[in-house]
Amino acid sequence: MPEYRLAVYPGDGIGPEVTAEAVRALEAAAARFGFSLRLTDIPWGIEHWERTGKLVPDDFLDQLRPHDAILLGALGWPAKLPDHLTLAPLVKIRQSFDQYACLRPAKLYPGVRGPLADKGPADIDFVVLRENSEGEYLDLGNRFHVGRPDEFALQTAVHTRKGVERVLRFGFQLAQTRRKRLTMITKSNALRYAYVLWDDLFDEVRGDYADVEADKQHADAAAMNFVRRPEHFDVVVASNLFGDLLTDLGGVISGGLGLAASTNTNPERQYPSMFEPVHGSAPDIAGQGIANPVAAILSASMLLDWVGQPQAAARVRSAVEQTLAAGLGTPDLGGKLTTRGLGDEIAGRIAAK
Ligand code: NAD
Ligand code: IPM
Ligand code: MN
Repeated sequence: MPEYRLAVYPGDGIGPEVTAEAVRALEAAAARFGFSLRLTDIPWGIEHWERTGKLVPDDFLDQLRPHDAILLGALGWPAKLPDHLTLAPLVKIRQSFDQYACLRPAKLYPGVRGPLADKGPADIDFVVLRENSEGEYLDLGNRFHVGRPDEFALQTAVHTRKGVERVLRFGFQLAQTRRKRLTMITKSNALRYAYVLWDDLFDEVRGDYADVEADKQHADAAAMNFVRRPEHFDVVVASNLFGDLLTDLGGVISGGLGLAASTNTNPERQYPSMFEPVHGSAPDIAGQGIANPVAAILSASMLLDWVGQPQAAARVRSAVEQTLAAGLGTPDLGGKLTTRGLGDEIAGRIAAK
């Protein structure tokens, strides 16, 4: 029987609430499809910081490395500690483990009411591939003359030929498995170095994928088109910061962040990949038992695909689809179920004969 070693890192706020349901879905899938899970509980987050004075242990990357995959909930509790401190380990994991391909599907499921009038499930079904290892997220910069009238901050983005090219090729290959359409997000009209490099590499690479219909859009126009014409998009390749912004938008037009899943993939499998919802720790609803666990559960289904259990992954996805199509949901979807109640519905459908 195959066994997978998973690091389960629930984090803060609603992170533990939704991660518990994702683990239940994984366990239901394991029982049904004949594999086993060896789970390592990762207790890091704000409470760990309050107890130990550290957000994560010094050897946190070494502790995570031996796993087949990491299942993350969410981090952050801005009332207790500023986000730029709390979220640093998350960005560090993505970069240190070279998880450069961040896949974030935006799919409006039947039974879910999206906010866009006249746009249904046939119109909203794309995936944003976010460059996840460089760009604006490198920890490069400083603040100078702090507190003085002439204070300034420098925050440097680095976009490398290797980094941009590999994510573009990953996107083109993904498009070949889907509807064969790719849109690259640029902003070369204003950012004359970084995004002109993106444009040039797009022109270099696209010829190798002649079967894919490719275009590029400036980030501002793409934001408008996510709302105006979402049916245009199939695979969207974006830099780290643009991908961050566009995936909250992709999530909300697909019925809300409670449904939006994400990978942080290291395609070469040199390091563990990490699976987590797009959403954060949602302090506004934490502790109430009403967070939607679907984003976490769909992230877990992407984990199953990654470790080599595609049937189990498909089963989890179809259990979610059936549940949503039956009109069941948490309050963010207009439903009445609790986190646990919706998790029960989904786990029951995974297990059903
Ligand atoms: P958020 O995603 O936590 O919440 C945004 C809004 O969406 C809130 O109104 C929230 O209630 C709602 N929402 C989010 N997930 C939901 C769910 N599963 N079910 C129902 N409603 C849901 O974003 P925020 O409020 O800007 O950030 C809160 C904290 O999370 C901050 O500390 C932020 O830095 C952090 N954050 C962490 C991650 C991560 O760990 N990957 C991602 C984004 C934000
Ligand atoms: C996300 C989050 C993170 C990001 C933050 C919390 C560092 O918003 O995963 O989308 O910007 O990548
Ligand atoms: Mn984000």
